[in-house]
Amino acid sequence: MSVTILAIESSCDETSAAICTDGKILSNYIANQSVHEKYGGVVPELASRAHMQNIVPVVKAAIDTAGCSLDQVDAIAFTQSPGLIGSLLVGSQFAKSLSLALNKPLIAVHHMQAHVIANLIEEKKPSFPFICLTVSGGHTQIVVCESPTQLRVIGETIDDAAGEAFDKSAKLLGLPYPGGPLIDKHAKEGNPDRFQFPEPKIPGLNFSFSGLKTSILYFLQNAGTSLVYKEEFKASEQERYDFIQNNLNDICASIQQRIITILLNKVKKAAEETGITDLCLAGGVSANSGLRKAFEEMGRKKGWNTFIPAFQYCTDNAAMIAITAYYKYQERQFADLSTEASARAEW
Ligand code: KG4
Ligand code: ZN
Repeated sequence: MSVTILAIESSCDETSAAICTDGKILSNYIANQSVHEKYGGVVPELASRAHMQNIVPVVKAAIDTAGCSLDQVDAIAFTQSPGLIGSLLVGSQFAKSLSLALNKPLIAVHHMQAHVIANLIEEKKPSFPFICLTVSGGHTQIVVCESPTQLRVIGETIDDAAGEAFDKSAKLLGLPYPGGPLIDKHAKEGNPDRFQFPEPKIPGLNFSFSGLKTSILYFLQNAGTSLVYKEEFKASEQERYDFIQNNLNDICASIQQRIITILLNKVKKAAEETGITDLCLAGGVSANSGLRKAFEEMGRKKGWNTFIPAFQYCTDNAAMIAITAYYKYQERQFADLSTEASARAEW
């Protein structure tokens, strides 16, 4: 029997809806919220309001693009956690109302599980068990995925997420939010070996990015003369500005290279320790062109199979919620109408 799922994602600042039939994505509609740009980060209250405005047209666009109608939908899926609570509430209430009105099952999806399972959208799929490095604006995790519904976190960040490391570095360079894609763009033209930022020594499979941020701050305060803050190095505002303008591409390339080596050294360790040879990338930062290239290169060198979701399934999107819900549907993992959205959630 064919199964069609309507999925809604609203955990942060993207309102998205998708239709998936039998594991195939028929539509994936995303409305971005430009309202946050001038604030240098997502403003939760504004995000909730924008979701309220976007949700009906986005769901309608997803249904129309897929060429189906609401009565062909077999289940309604939504992002339950984690995320901004006001944002999650818009998507979850909308999904619950639709489930009630259509009398169709409701499927609650974990956003981080969905990022991982986005790797099962494409024809070429990893075999189980596989390792996934999930790198987003809020999370950085290494997960062992035994099946689409059985995932185990084996490493995670102890402070900032990889996406935050990109965005905070970009902010220090005077680049607008979200800075990750801009660092990527400038890095393409720069020399990654020009400046050496430190790699933190964190035991096991965990990550840390806060030291990198501090070293970039001092490096810029000292106009590139030192990674350690000393009063005698302190540059004037103008000197700092000129230094950034004259070296932006090399600074971005060097920062990006360090973030990539921090991430990939831990993935290598995870693969060697577990003996798992199918490796996936997921999350918004997996849109980074340098990371994608280095990840694939690592796989080629080590003889490991690497998988990266298509670009549109890396950053927040409802297609990943739909594909995860498709597997949950097979296992009859339905939620009841009393289920609640949650800002923080364990697996
Ligand atoms: O997964 P995502 O869309 O949202 C969260 O769940 O957080 O990830 C957003 C993060 C932001 O930090 C953004 O700067 C980063 O992904 N990002 C990138 C790139 N595209 C998005 N970082 C580096 N290079 C990119 N090309
Ligand atoms: Zn995300």
